[in-house]
Amino acid sequence: MSGRERISQLRGAIATTRAKHGAARLLAISDSRSLVRSLFLASMAETSLGLALVRPATLAELCERTQCTRPDRLRAWLDVGVEAGELRVRGDRWQAHGRRARAIAEGDALITAQYRSMLEYQSGPYAHLGALLRCKPGEGRLDLEDYAGTIAEASLAAAPFIEPFLQQVVSDRHPVNALDVGCGSGEYTRALLDADPQIAVVGIDVAPDVVDETRDRMRADGYGSRLTLAAGDVRTWEPESGTRFDLIALCNNVYYLPPDERADVFGRLRHLLSSDGELVVVSLTRPGSIASAHLHLLLSCQEGDAALPARGEIEHALVEAGFDVVASEMLVPTEPFVGVRARPR
Ligand SMILES: C[S@@+](CC[C@H](N)C(=O)[O-])C[C@H]1O[C@@H](n2cnc3c(N)ncnc32)[C@H](O)[C@@H]1O
Repeated sequence: MSGRERISQLRGAIATTRAKHGAARLLAISDSRSLVRSLFLASMAETSLGLALVRPATLAELCERTQCTRPDRLRAWLDVGVEAGELRVRGDRWQAHGRRARAIAEGDALITAQYRSMLEYQSGPYAHLGALLRCKPGEGRLDLEDYAGTIAEASLAAAPFIEPFLQQVVSDRHPVNALDVGCGSGEYTRALLDADPQIAVVGIDVAPDVVDETRDRMRADGYGSRLTLAAGDVRTWEPESGTRFDLIALCNNVYYLPPDERADVFGRLRHLLSSDGELVVVSLTRPGSIASAHLHLLLSCQEGDAALPARGEIEHALVEAGFDVVASEMLVPTEPFVGVRARPR
C-alpha cells in the first residue's frame, strides 16, 4: 500500500469516528459482522450444506450433495464462511472449521435448532413488527404450527438444569406413572423414564408430526410398554378410562396457554392426578433477562393469546386451580427460569 493510500484511509477512519454518532456507527459495524456470522451459520443449519461440510469437499461435490444448480451462488456463500472463520479452504476443498460450524456439521441437534430458529421464527417478529403491531386481537404468527420440531429441539438448552429437578421429584415421590404434557422431542419423557426403572410415562403433544418423530427416535431405546406417546391437546386430551397419574409435568409449554385458561387447564390436570400426585411446571418467566423478554415478544406475536408468565403467575394459577404450591425454585443462573411443584389441596 502506498503512503498516499495509507494517509487517505487514516483520514476516512478519523472522519468516521469523529462524525456525529461515530461510536454508534462503529458498534453497528461490529453488530452487522456478528449478524453475518449468525446468518451464515443459520443457513448452514437450515440446508443440507451443514452436514455436507463435515469433511473436505470440492465445489462440484457440494453441488452434487445438495442438488445445487447455481455453483456461483454456492461459491459466494462459501466465501462468506471462510471470511467469517467458520469454514476452512485447503486447495479446492472446503470444510467446517469454526466451533459452531463444526457442531452443526457433526449434527448437534441443539446448536442446529438454535441457528435454524434464527431464520425460521426468531427474526420474523422484528422484521414484520410494523404489521404485527397493527393486527386485530388474536391475529398473529403461527410459529408453533410451522416450526414445531425446531421449537421443541431449541428448548433443550435448559435440559441440564431441568433434568436434575425432575430426577429430584421422582426420587422424592417414587411415581408409578407420569404424564409429560407437550413432550416435544421427548427429552424429559426420557429423563422421567431413566429416573426410575419402574416408572411408566405417557407423553402427549399437540403436534402430531412431533409425536411421530419422537416415537421413531425413541422406538429403539428399549423402554417397551413403559413408554406411550400420543398426539393430544392438554385442553381436551383424556387418558384411557380411569387412568390417574402420580406425576404430571409441563415443561416449557405453559406459555402457549392463554393466561386466563391456565387455571382451568391446571384444574383439568388436577383431576388426572392420583390423590397424592404432584404437578410440576417448568418455565422461563418474565421479566429478568434478554432471553425472557425476547421469548415473550415472540409469544405475544403469535395467533391467539400466548404469553410468558410473569413472576408468580404460575403459582397463582395453581392455587386458583386447587393446588398447594410446595416448592418454587429458580433453576437456571442468570435466567428467571422456575420449577414449580404443586399437590392437590
Ligand atoms: C417449547 S416445546 C417444549 C417441548 C418439551 N416439553 C421440552 O421442554 O423440550 C413446547 C411443546 O409444547 C407443545 N404444546 C403446545 N401447546 C400444547 C397443548 N395445548 N397441548 C399439548 N402440547 C402442546 C408444542 O407442540 C411443543 O412441542
